[in-house]
This record gives sequence, C-alpha cells and structure tokens, in this order.
Amino acid sequence: MKRVSFAEFGGPDVLRLEDAEEPHAGPGQIRVAVRAAGVNPVDWRIREGQILSAHPIELPTGVGLDAAGVVDEVGEGVEGVEVGDHVFGEGADTYAEFAVLSAWARMPEGLTFEEAAGYPSVVETALRVLREVGVRPGQTLLVSGASGGVGSAVLQLARERGVTVIGTASAANQEYLRELGALATTYGQGWAERVRRLGRVDAALDLAGAGVIRELVELTGDPGKVVSIADLDAPKLGVRFSGTAGSVPDALAEAVGLIERGRLHIPVEKAYALTEAAAAHIDSQAGHTRGRRVIVV
Ligand SMILES: NC(=O)c1ccc[n+]([C@@H]2O[C@H](COP(=O)([O-])OP(=O)(O)OC[C@H]3O[C@@H](n4cnc5c(N)ncnc54)[C@H](OP(=O)(O)O)[C@@H]3O)[C@@H](O)[C@H]2O)c1
Repeated sequence: MKRVSFAEFGGPDVLRLEDAEEPHAGPGQIRVAVRAAGVNPVDWRIREGQILSAHPIELPTGVGLDAAGVVDEVGEGVEGVEVGDHVFGEGADTYAEFAVLSAWARMPEGLTFEEAAGYPSVVETALRVLREVGVRPGQTLLVSGASGGVGSAVLQLARERGVTVIGTASAANQEYLRELGALATTYGQGWAERVRRLGRVDAALDLAGAGVIRELVELTGDPGKVVSIADLDAPKLGVRFSGTAGSVPDALAEAVGLIERGRLHIPVEKAYALTEAAAAHIDSQAGHTRGRRVIVV
C-alpha cells in the first residue's frame, strides 16, 4: 500500500510517499481502508521532532492520527462494528491507504469521509479543555484562537452548554466566529481592551499559543480559570497546560449526536491528495486554518 512517511526529523520536504507493508488490526483495534485523514498541528510537530517525550517514535514512521474510512478488519475482542461500516476515529499512520484505529465511532448520516476525518482529535481536545477550565452555563468563556479546528469545536460545544463565548481571530474570521454563536474580536494590539468592552470573562482558553497567558489571567482574575493547549510556558504563570488526551470514544459519541442534530460542524478548509502531504503541512504550519485541512486517499 501507499503511505506518507519520514525517515528523519525536519521540514515538510522530509515527507515521502512510499510503498509499505499493510498494517493489521491487533486486539481491540480495527483496520480501515482510509478515505480521508485529518491534518492536525501535532502531525507536523512530530515530524519536526518537537514533542518526542509525548510521542516517542522510531524512524522511519508514518504520519497522522485521525481518519475516516471503511472497516476492512476487526481485531480480536472488538464488538459492535463490522467490515464495511463507515467509521471515523483515531489511530496511527493515517496518511495511508490502510490504517489501524484504536478508537472510533460510526460516521453520522450525511457526513462525507472528507468532513468526518476532521473531527476526532479536535472534539476530544475541545471537550477536554471545556471540562478542565470548569466553565458553567450562564458564564462567559474567552477563547484565544477561536477559528481553528479546536476553536471551531469549542465554540459550538460551549454554545450547547449555555456558555457565552468571546472569541479572538483574524479580521477574516470575525463573521465565522459570529456564525458559530460567539462574540468576536480581533487579536493583536489592544485586544485585551476590546475583550473588556465585550463583557466580563469568567474563564479563558489559550488555543493559539500567541503569548497571551498574562492577559488571560488578568481578564479572568485567576490563573486557575485559564487553560492552555498551546503554550508550554503557561505553568510558569500558574496556568494549567492540558496535554493528556481524554476519551476519544466518549468525545465521538457526543459529537455524533450533535452532528446529526445539525449542532456541530467543522468546515474543511482544503482537501489534499496523498501526494500533497507536504503542501498540507506547509499550509497548516502557516497557522491560519479555519476548521480542518484533510488528506483524501
Ligand atoms: N495540548 C493538546 O492536547 C493539543 C491538542 C490539539 C491541538 N493543540 C495545539 O493547539 C493549537 C491549535 O490547534 P488547532 O488544531 O486548533 O490549530 P489550527 O486549526 O491550525 O488553528 C490555528 C488558529 O490559530 C489562530 N491564530 C493564529 N495566530 C493567532 C494569534 N496571534 N492569536 C489568536 N489566534 C491566532 C488562527 O486564526 P486566524 O486564521 O483567524 O488567524 C487559526 O484559526 C496548535 O498549536 C496545536 O498544536 C494542542
């Protein structure tokens, strides 16, 4: 089969499309014929060798965590899923014709493979940080970096919980944030003052790692009410860095219900072919993805 891989850490040019042995589903796993793979920032962070402590890997290695596809092998002990089912979930080396998933759910009606591949990591992260920041119905949550994959999910999941959101994004994404039910303002010079004018903030999430932890603590009045997923220095200011993944099956189960009721939608910014994985990484690394980029197999 074809898969995208790299044999040394580095820039997008280390990515290769190679012929590889097909993987097989072990106990508790399934294998899918991949139709689409989600492109997450963690994919290029791993490729650059940035986060080896969290993701120790042997080279050469494949790329990608998220996928949507058609089940073609069911591992020992797995129940409730059959060959031919359309699923989306998380696994390993998903930029490939076949991949093994360790967590999955049946795709909701009406979702394309291309769209479905954008959800798994994003909804797991969004639900985790909403839980960890402890925001309650009727309160206001500030989200720095609200228009990306995780931000898009956080805004819609917060709305479902009766939480008001103030989101920051570039000028191009102000209307997008409003469509997702948030109050919107731009980041950059004077942003904290613009947020103050929009209202009081009870809790805050840093989803962009844009060096705003100090302001988020000032706006909430308490480092315990701020969580970051993107600024490793956040703990120096008493702010929790959230890095350990929660339950993907639980997140997908909640996402499926919301997607089916039209209450959750992560748009696909752009789809790429397997041969264009390097371009997908370059575009993701530019840092202005609305929703998710995906690779179509
Ligand atoms: N720790 C964890 O568990 C975990 C999990 C998932 C992701 N992450 C990390 O969290 C970050 C976000 O992930 P993602 O998948 O949502 O990324 P993404 O889809 O690539 O989105 C990045 C977003 O950042 C926004 N942005 C760029 N510069 C900004 C600034 N100065 N201030 C505020 N927003 C800015 C962009 O908005 P505009 O286009 O409007 O500029 C864009 O929408 C990444 O660094 C990723 O590695 C961590």
